[in-house]
Amino acid sequence: MKQTELQRALTDYHRLGEVQKLSQADAQRISEQPRLVSRFYDVVTRFYEYGWGATFHFSPRRPGESLRESQRRQDLGVGELLRLKPAMHVADIGCGVGGPLVTIARATGASITGINFNAHQIRRGEERVRRAGLDGSCAFLYADYMDVPLDDGTFDALYSFEAVCHAPNRALAFREQYRLLKTGAEAAIVDWCLTDAFDSANREHMDIRARVERHNATPELLTAGEYVEAVQSAGFEVIEAVDQQAEYGHPATPWYMALQGRDLSLSSLARIPAGRALTAGVTGVLERLRMAPAGTSEAARFLNVAADALVEAGELGIFTPSFLVHARKPA
Ligand SMILES: C[S@@+](CC[C@H](N)C(=O)[O-])C[C@H]1O[C@@H](n2cnc3c(N)ncnc32)[C@H](O)[C@@H]1O
Repeated sequence: MKQTELQRALTDYHRLGEVQKLSQADAQRISEQPRLVSRFYDVVTRFYEYGWGATFHFSPRRPGESLRESQRRQDLGVGELLRLKPAMHVADIGCGVGGPLVTIARATGASITGINFNAHQIRRGEERVRRAGLDGSCAFLYADYMDVPLDDGTFDALYSFEAVCHAPNRALAFREQYRLLKTGAEAAIVDWCLTDAFDSANREHMDIRARVERHNATPELLTAGEYVEAVQSAGFEVIEAVDQQAEYGHPATPWYMALQGRDLSLSSLARIPAGRALTAGVTGVLERLRMAPAGTSEAARFLNVAADALVEAGELGIFTPSFLVHARKPA
């Protein structure tokens, strides 16, 4: 039987396990892993948009805030941290479908270029930017952030939300970001990290970590300390490095609440366990009726494992999705 595009994307993506056996410095891995991660996003983007809207990142959340409100507050905070203003040319590294880009561009007036290696997400982002009336100042570049076809010193600032965790080699990813910035310019990178509570001798921790990495296409997560070292190894001066969840989150509303039943609302239905189970069941039926492409329910089940592993990691406190490194390219 002929494979659907979704099944082909799933088959391609499953090769990531093979590629990540190569050393992080291996040229084949550096060139191939981004494409396989992009195939992961070919599989999951529609599910993410259904469950998360246009912004695909967690955020430190305050009691009474919706997920969307907390994401917006975090996005605006990054714009303020970098003191973005009109006439600044800014990069959004791994920009998804453009949710944070539109929020930050509207609030600051900066011209933002979203860099992304997924063509479908870029099309979605371009529609969003056009609808927001920002197409005169903001744009997207289809490129692997490990090797961006732009001159040295192109940008006045850059930021990234939960995207560098997909890089085949973090140090090389930061080196490329360093190259793209002007001297004296700043970067705010928010990303996935293992916390100090993670213990590699603990089998439960290792099992959860493996599921988080495998089902979110984020191989070899770094500890916070390793992350800072990788940023510094590229030449950056680190101004601040902080787990935003530990620092600004609230114990009553942890980040992983976005994936739990207690976050019940109309907009959360696709994210919480009952809604995710329903999605997997309904997509199975739609597939049999040939109303959804073959592979849809496999993808939904796959994402359920990803979400459950993240909740387990969050409950044990061994992982944070919001490790912020604020850094400068020294003068
Ligand atoms: C979890 S999503 C976050 C998206 C966006 N930053 C947001 O918060 O809404 C990760 C993003 O990184 C992008 N990405 C991953 N690896 C990439 C690479 N090597 N080059 C460019 N983009 C990449 C993915 O396509 C996806 O858009």
